[in-house]
Amino acid sequence: MAKASAPGKLILFGEHFVVYGLPAIATAIESRTVAEIQRAKEYSLLDNRPETPGYKKEKYDQQSDSIQRMLKVMGLEGKKVRIVLGGDLVAASGVGASGASCAAIAAALNEEFGLGMDRHEINDAAYEGEKGYHGMPSGIDNCCSTYGGFLHFRKDLKTGKSVVRQMHSKAPLSIVVGNTGLTSNTTKVVGDVRAKREKDPEKFKKIFDNYSKIAEEATVSVENGDLIKTGLLMNMNHLLLEEMGVSCDELEELVDLASRNGALGAKLTGTGRGGLMVALVTGGTGSRVASAIKKAGYHSEMTKIGAKGVKVIR
Ligand code: PMV
Repeated sequence: MAKASAPGKLILFGEHFVVYGLPAIATAIESRTVAEIQRAKEYSLLDNRPETPGYKKEKYDQQSDSIQRMLKVMGLEGKKVRIVLGGDLVAASGVGASGASCAAIAAALNEEFGLGMDRHEINDAAYEGEKGYHGMPSGIDNCCSTYGGFLHFRKDLKTGKSVVRQMHSKAPLSIVVGNTGLTSNTTKVVGDVRAKREKDPEKFKKIFDNYSKIAEEATVSVENGDLIKTGLLMNMNHLLLEEMGVSCDELEELVDLASRNGALGAKLTGTGRGGLMVALVTGGTGSRVASAIKKAGYHSEMTKIGAKGVKVIR
């Protein structure tokens, strides 16, 4: 029997843009998924992760495809294993639940079968697993879950490789998350954005140009610990995502609640059209933002940036 855990993630800048090769900034978070692998007479999966209601059922087929892809790419096709998933990361849209489970499963399989894979190879296997959920994922989720920390991420569209750099902020970043309670379909939303972009290339060129400037400035403001500027840039990033059609009423309400209660910036995070809102807060405002969100009937949590990546549990 082998066990491994991997963290969830939050994208602070650049979801959707990252699919087109633009840079994104994302962080591993403290909550983790634990995967346990046992050799068994036949294949089975027991998913004990806490969830946004309906998430696991909706993702079941994608999850099965994802696991089969990982077994195949790791040379374990046809192996009979029992996989048990747990941990404190809530299986929900926007928090990197699939990336965390892929990284944890890949690391636990590597351990159980003595494959001797290094971290980069585990990341590659987790990326293969992500394809079961996302079609053509950028790779940002599995990189956050595998490497951990606070990442500047870019997908090199020519080579298909992830270009990852660890970032350091001079000021600690505190984050509040609000959960719409809605599960989004990444493949569908990414496909919708692609179709809209093909239909109106001029509009999307402007949006993408604006985002490129935001990403450049955010990289500097985040590393300098300029929280006020970072918050403003998050708001601007959200407006672009809204213009691209990936927000929804619940996300708008959460962004509005966070802003009115003192957040420095707030935006949707991840796929959008459901999933999560992420707000940048300072010490005092964090609990005010979180309780306003809870009062409005949504689940909310505070978290810090930069958790450790995938690790085997012995
Ligand atoms: O919803 P999440 O947490 O899986 O994030 C998806 C991020 C996208 O940029 C929309 C897709 C991708 O592959 O990067």
